[in-house]
Amino acid sequence: MKKDITSSEDVQWMVNRFYDKVKEDKLLAFIFTDVMKVNWQKYLPVMYAFWENALFYTGGYEGNALKKHICINMHIPLQKKYFKRWLLLFNKTVDEYFVGEKATLAKQRAYSIATIIQIKLKEIPVK
Ligand code: HEM
Repeated sequence: MKKDITSSEDVQWMVNRFYDKVKEDKLLAFIFTDVMKVNWQKYLPVMYAFWENALFYTGGYEGNALKKHICINMHIPLQKKYFKRWLLLFNKTVDEYFVGEKATLAKQRAYSIATIIQIKLKEIPVK
């Protein structure tokens, strides 16, 4: 029986399962492993804090996700197909394990942030 996202353990589970999928994804994995060479030990706790803040307003995330992706976009252009796949995997992860208000909120947040990042990337001139 699925339940809602209610604790930091739930958030960690969601994030861990999501990046398990990302690391195995034919379209996305190389961006994380080859292009940005992500240090997962460092990065996952940042993502836990980001999602806990996004869902429970804990105030624990002090980064700037938009700036980060503008930077990533300089290494590898973040095309629409990447965002589509990212969202597909994220929604799939949430739906696989959770159902409820916070689960819905997580998907809405992911969608709106993906939209904002894409709009902002288009505003940055190529040269
Ligand atoms: C095309 C889709 C995306 C790709 C390829 C992507 C890739 C990445 C990569 C490579 C990092 C850097 C990790 C590091 O610091 O080493 C990162 C950070 C991050 N991403 Fe994404 N991302 C995507 C979309 C999103 C979306 C839609 C969200 C919104 C929920 C998001 C949230 C974050 C956050 C919060 C960070 C951490 C920023 C920080 O260091 O404070 N990403 N992403």
